Amino acid sequence: MKVLLTRRIPSSAFSALEAAHDVDVNEGPSPMSADELKRRLAGAQALICQLTEKITAEVIAAAPELRVIANVAVGYDNIDVPAARARGIVVTNTPDVLTHATAEFTWGLILAAARRIAEGDRLVRRRAWRGWALDFMLGTELRGKQLGLIGAGRIGRAVAAIAPAFGMTAVFARREGGRSTASEATLSLDELLVTSDVISIHVPGGPATRHLIDRKALARMKRSAILINTSRGTVVDEEALAWALKERLIAGAGLDVYEREPEVHEALLGMENVVLAPHLGSATRETRTAMAQLAVDNVLAVLAGAPPVTPIP
Ligand code: GLV
Repeated sequence: MKVLLTRRIPSSAFSALEAAHDVDVNEGPSPMSADELKRRLAGAQALICQLTEKITAEVIAAAPELRVIANVAVGYDNIDVPAARARGIVVTNTPDVLTHATAEFTWGLILAAARRIAEGDRLVRRRAWRGWALDFMLGTELRGKQLGLIGAGRIGRAVAAIAPAFGMTAVFARREGGRSTASEATLSLDELLVTSDVISIHVPGGPATRHLIDRKALARMKRSAILINTSRGTVVDEEALAWALKERLIAGAGLDVYEREPEVHEALLGMENVVLAPHLGSATRETRTAMAQLAVDNVLAVLAGAPPVTPIP
């Protein structure tokens, strides 16, 4: 059967796929355009795509034989899932294998923002460092502080599990109508915003969470608070965040994701109190290889008539 890959994947995963099916790989450096996707999907039974490709209803309609869409990502807000479901197309993602890489990266951003690591690096590189001083580039200590997690999925919980190592108390935002386990401290979103020293976002992207963190939410946060986002850029209103950072309504931020990737809000680019990473949450060799392998396993299973390994919830 024919499998379209929108980007190259590690050779170990690729070989398993190529041994079983006719594989068409886009070799280009940039994401495939909608027209290109539609053209090359025409005779394909499977698609392995990444979050840089928008798999719209129109793209899906151009693929009459498509049986499975395997996203090499845990998030799947780049895929029109209802359109796929309406056609009986299985959609899969890559949960679990990236949980720890993303949690580690989240802590990297927390530390970088709290201790001004990226800002210090820039200062050293432009030869502006004049030497050690008692009051030079003071950051904020994490020990004894509250980490507020918005999102209690796998990644949010993995981030919370590391908090005690830094002497932080982790609390989760309560989902409306959601239940929490007895071992988990939960607060309403507003209470969490008002009382947390570091706030880290771990909810899926998409319409339900769009601009969950807006001007109003930012204004509720402590002036000393740090906001971290390794989920999806759309969850934070970037314009509002730039305003809050400029007005010093919050102390800092660490971002790995943006509303219009790879574009970053112009105002943020000029600010010292925000750490800007280029969507690297799951970017370790081990994890990216495992993600590609899981996407391939999903395709192999579905094309063999078996249930997918990790269908989206
Ligand atoms: C990365 O952002 C992912 O969703 O896997």
